[in-house]
Amino acid sequence: MKKQWWKESVVYQIYPRSFMDGNGDGIGDIPGILSKLDYLQNLGVDVIWLSPVYESPNDDNGYDISDYRSILGEFGTIDDWKSLLEGLHDRGMKLIMDLVVNHSSDEHAWFVESRKSKDNPYRDYYIWREGKGGKEPNDWGSFFSGSAWQRDEATGEYFLHLFSKKQPDLNWENEALRQEIYDMMTWWLDLGIDGFRMDVINLISKVPELPNAGNGDGKYVFGGEYFMNGPRIHEYLQEMNRKVLSKYDIMTVGEAIGVTPEEASLYVGEDRGELNMVFHFELMDVDSGPGGKWDVVPWKLSDLKRIIGKWQRSLHGKGWNSLYLNNHDQPRMVSRFGDDGRYRIESAKMLATLLHTLQGTPYVYQGEELGMVNVKFDGVSEYKDIETLNMYEEYAAAGRDHSEIMNSIYVKGRDNARTPMQWNGSANAGFTTGTPWIRVNPSYMDINAERTLADENSVFHYYRKLIRLRKENEIAVYGDYRPLLENDNRVFAYVRSLGDDRLVVVLNFFGAPAEVVFDELIAYGNCELYIGNYEDAPRNELEQRIELRPYEARVYKLTK
Ligand code: NOJ
Repeated sequence: MKKQWWKESVVYQIYPRSFMDGNGDGIGDIPGILSKLDYLQNLGVDVIWLSPVYESPNDDNGYDISDYRSILGEFGTIDDWKSLLEGLHDRGMKLIMDLVVNHSSDEHAWFVESRKSKDNPYRDYYIWREGKGGKEPNDWGSFFSGSAWQRDEATGEYFLHLFSKKQPDLNWENEALRQEIYDMMTWWLDLGIDGFRMDVINLISKVPELPNAGNGDGKYVFGGEYFMNGPRIHEYLQEMNRKVLSKYDIMTVGEAIGVTPEEASLYVGEDRGELNMVFHFELMDVDSGPGGKWDVVPWKLSDLKRIIGKWQRSLHGKGWNSLYLNNHDQPRMVSRFGDDGRYRIESAKMLATLLHTLQGTPYVYQGEELGMVNVKFDGVSEYKDIETLNMYEEYAAAGRDHSEIMNSIYVKGRDNARTPMQWNGSANAGFTTGTPWIRVNPSYMDINAERTLADENSVFHYYRKLIRLRKENEIAVYGDYRPLLENDNRVFAYVRSLGDDRLVVVLNFFGAPAEVVFDELIAYGNCELYIGNYEDAPRNELEQRIELRPYEARVYKLTK
């Protein structure tokens, strides 16, 4: 595989609203981030992905942009942003920005114009249709509940919004709109940024007829087949690459809902001229039942192994994987796939070991390196996320039981990831001197950066070590992947190989001890413990029979 800096990097995602508040207004901001650059450097990450900081009415916390070229006042100024870029570059880190161009805010100047009249020059920048029989143009549901269409008074037509009513979808069929987006991307790149994370980028091409997705019973349904990986998606991305991306030494990662590894190779194939990586959702769906995200079912290790193995093998030699188990849209990984009680530290380290020993680029979401956990607020009124609030309203109106809905929110709600970063044990976890925009997770007395920095056995220091080891061992980046113990339903194990070197990874995914017996002789030559989450694991010996302790992770490096 071709060597690239972004393959060898570890990315850290900052959700600016919740990272660090520099001015006491309760909202995280860029000066706050500036005060934590040494912290990030100490962790050892290479690239910062900054969630949106652009002008926005914040219907969806910045994923509804009303001006792509300016910074939202509550986050700071463009000069603050320039200091951020400079501060990162000075420390040898890079910065990638969030690019949200499937939709804009309804307060963007384009939409303000577009909605005025049918013959406005900006009309065609968005997707407008006449209603059918007094109803919406089709039966598509929005990701945030209800119809994906909104009727607009001025002209009586409907506009499409796959997300909130304040996030109208942009019409990529329109060439002038595409050019505006490319110009805007060029503007940011010329300011010196190092790439983009592209929001729901595989939704930008819709089947032009916008057909109904359901059976005509009047229900809103998920119309994904008509807008995921749509007919012109690869043409658009190749055009974007030709006109913009290919001119810079940058990294790109596209959020891609519903892509399979086969489809992903069209986005990230090294000969395709599109993107470097995608975020797929197969792993994030392992605990969703037939009713979707909120219909929570237990995940199975066999599914995790199958999905990860499939992606590792399918993209090997063709394209590059992104590796993540949480972000600002997902619950905290230690609560979801580990144990956020008794074995919080062990399981957070075990999951980190998985992410940093697979082929691909690992993404760390703020607070993950502390082992931050999910939150349970008492009432729905404490929650801020539009997806959660809309769902609550819809489910409650349909007569669903309050405690059942709350339970889904506790397990899956996006606000689990959006409570403020826990810096220390003082008021509001040291995040703000004011009133935080969303309540701090009460776990902050126990789980915070100050404590974790002071303890050399902490999750934070384990991340540092993992990140450093990955830099020192090419095999962790470029080695290929072969599963071991495929039928074991407690232990996840695999071998990475590069030349004559081997990395053997053994992870106990549960809180009970597990014995594994390798059915092949994997030890050869010299053996050295690469990393492990228990102090006293044998350092120079990989036995054929191993007793793993709860959530134990061991990685051995074997050399001839
Ligand atoms: C994906 C983003 O990650 C999420 O936070 C947002 O709500 C939707 N896209 C819409 O922009």
